[in-house]
Amino acid sequence: MRLSGKTALITGAGSGLGQATAQLFAQEGARVVVADISQRRAQAVAAEINDTNASPAIGIQVDVTQRQAVNALVDQAKSAYGPIRILVNNAGIAQIKDLLDITPEDWQRMIDVHMKGTFLCTRAVIEDMIAAQWGRVINTASVAGMTGGPQNAHYAAAKAAIIGFTRSLALEYARSGITVNAVAPGLIEMPMVKQGTGPAAEKVVDFFIRRIPMRQMGTPGDIAAAHLYLASDDAAYVTGQVLSPNGGYLV
Ligand SMILES: NC(=O)c1ccc[n+]([C@@H]2O[C@H](COP(=O)([O-])OP(=O)(O)OC[C@H]3O[C@@H](n4cnc5c(N)ncnc54)[C@H](O)[C@@H]3O)[C@@H](O)[C@H]2O)c1
Repeated sequence: MRLSGKTALITGAGSGLGQATAQLFAQEGARVVVADISQRRAQAVAAEINDTNASPAIGIQVDVTQRQAVNALVDQAKSAYGPIRILVNNAGIAQIKDLLDITPEDWQRMIDVHMKGTFLCTRAVIEDMIAAQWGRVINTASVAGMTGGPQNAHYAAAKAAIIGFTRSLALEYARSGITVNAVAPGLIEMPMVKQGTGPAAEKVVDFFIRRIPMRQMGTPGDIAAAHLYLASDDAAYVTGQVLSPNGGYLV
């Protein structure tokens, strides 16, 4: 087991990629804090982990854009399982809109959930990592943050910013035993993507699959495995990197 005895906080773990990561981390021996804006989903994922794993999990509701709520989350997590050693900043939202349709409120929410949320959660756990001289911060970018994405300017801008934040912190904490990396998923097969939400969504998926050299979407397990590698001791010498499971899309 690669994460035995470690406490891991995963934001946005009530569904999708964060849920898969929470499950895998628990299988690898971590005590898992499942944080999500949806209390129902956070608790459901934690309950599922507690039913199937020896490692415990706790589900806590949080809006990562709210400083007090993030600090309260970390306090609650610490009293349950001790200081956070692994943070996966995964909470995110998606929105497909032309630039002319993006309202200032859309823009602000996109920036807040991805950038401010990543900042606040990292800020809340980093002092304990410094004290322990050990820590893993894993941020969530996207191929959109590297290539840009049409009808997706606010999302792509936020994800590109996360890469800058990741590299900066990697430099700042390189001598503190803390690694800071980002995972930038390509197109990942989620129930919503797989079923499609109508002909327009199917067209978008087809468009991307034809540009993926492997001609297939990734799975949540592919992203969870990348998170596990970066969280583990195997990646002790890896920092400031953007690991992008994408089927060759960026080659
Ligand atoms: N699925 C993909 O193809 C893909 C590709 C590239 C990047 N990503 C990124 O991966 C991450 C996870 O995406 P996913 O596909 O699993 O999406 P998802 O919608 O299944 O999961 C995101 C989770 O974040 C939670 N969340 C949203 N706002 C929050 C907030 N303010 N505070 C706390 N929790 C909040 C949601 O409730 C949800 O459970 C996101 O950052 C996303 O941008 C996904």
